[in-house]
Amino acid sequence: MESGAIFAGLHQNLIPNHHRHQLGPSGSTTKLLPSVFSGKRHFSNNPFKLSNQSLFACFSNNNSKNANTLQVTSPASDVKPELADIDWDNLGFGFMPTDYMYIMKCSQGENFSKGELQRFGNIELSPSAGILNYGQGLFEGLKAYRKYDGNILLFRPEENAFRLRMGAERMCMPSPTVEQFVEAVKETVLANERWIPPPGKGSLYIRPLLMGSGAVLGLAPAPEYTFLIYVSPVGNYFKEGLAPIHLIVETEMHRATPGGTGGVKTIGNYAAVLKAQSAAKAKGFSDVLYLDSAQKRYLEEVSSCNVFVVKGNVISTPAIKGTILPGITRKSIIDVAISQGYQVEERLVTVEELLDADEVFCTGTAVVISPVGSITYLGKRVTYGSTGVGLVSQQLYSALTSLQMGLTEDKMDWIVVLK
Ligand SMILES: Cc1ncc(COP(=O)(O)O)c(C=O)c1O
Repeated sequence: MESGAIFAGLHQNLIPNHHRHQLGPSGSTTKLLPSVFSGKRHFSNNPFKLSNQSLFACFSNNNSKNANTLQVTSPASDVKPELADIDWDNLGFGFMPTDYMYIMKCSQGENFSKGELQRFGNIELSPSAGILNYGQGLFEGLKAYRKYDGNILLFRPEENAFRLRMGAERMCMPSPTVEQFVEAVKETVLANERWIPPPGKGSLYIRPLLMGSGAVLGLAPAPEYTFLIYVSPVGNYFKEGLAPIHLIVETEMHRATPGGTGGVKTIGNYAAVLKAQSAAKAKGFSDVLYLDSAQKRYLEEVSSCNVFVVKGNVISTPAIKGTILPGITRKSIIDVAISQGYQVEERLVTVEELLDADEVFCTGTAVVISPVGSITYLGKRVTYGSTGVGLVSQQLYSALTSLQMGLTEDKMDWIVVLK
């Protein structure tokens, strides 16, 4: 892929003024661009060259390092950053294997202490592992963006670390400290730098996992835990992109119940929504919006994102009360909306208010902001706006993504610059 092609689809308005001089009249790059845009394709100067790339037995009881393990302290920054040779213009939200993953283990009752980067690959687990038998596992999701000046940005990674720790407490698992989590994310991203999409093409999705990897037969917390991070370059989550999505309100099945685990990012919450989601997709909907399980009247959230309703200058979202995942995008959008003069309310939001709203949108790391074009409830379809994306959704999307991509000043101190 030539460097001109990298920028071909990039709208000039998205490029901050102080960077515009770096592009030629046709959008082709000049030598002012960082070396990462040199157009070279291959990871030719890899200091971690491995003798046997097919070995990935990193979960065996034998903890000795094999030829493809790396100490965390190895400076991943030695890797020459060149872009992977993939079709950057057509990234969806599919999994794409990259070069490295991060692994850290500890026994029950102990603390995580030292992890390592390993070549990305399959992992080995006992058939009796706690995660496989009893679903003792959590995941997280965050993104890294490549900036025009070559910097790599993370968005509020410590928030994901806090949320993982909260979830770990609920699921009886030890968890990495916030510092360990953030450091591990940084190392994994830098080791996989060539997979971070060029600016405007997408992001590197970072997927931390925490699981009971030790063998257990009777129902009990596993004797060993593994913290793992892998990454994948991504584009839009919904095929619609910023185009409106179409939701159906689910009235029979529930994502979460009071006292359950809806408020943490445990893996079982996601298998549990597949049935309703598949049925909705088969009918042409993008996803499902859940109601509270007690009264079936108050909004909860979508399968993997939070929901907001707009009425005039007021933006409302269901309050966090144990059954709803405390989204980091949700939290950020609340602050961004307040800073833009909106009144934001976190409270019980009824399905009637949803149907009567001016605009509805969803938020999440994967979806960013997804405007809702229609809601179907008990067979009745309500549509929002005639022109596609609502003004409030558009405004907040633009404010948040500009921040995340480093296009506007980070007044909130949310951005972590990796390099
Ligand atoms: C159930 C659920 N709700 C909401 C969200 C949004 O959370 P965040 O904004 O932190 O990605 C997610 C995604 O992680 C989710 O899985």
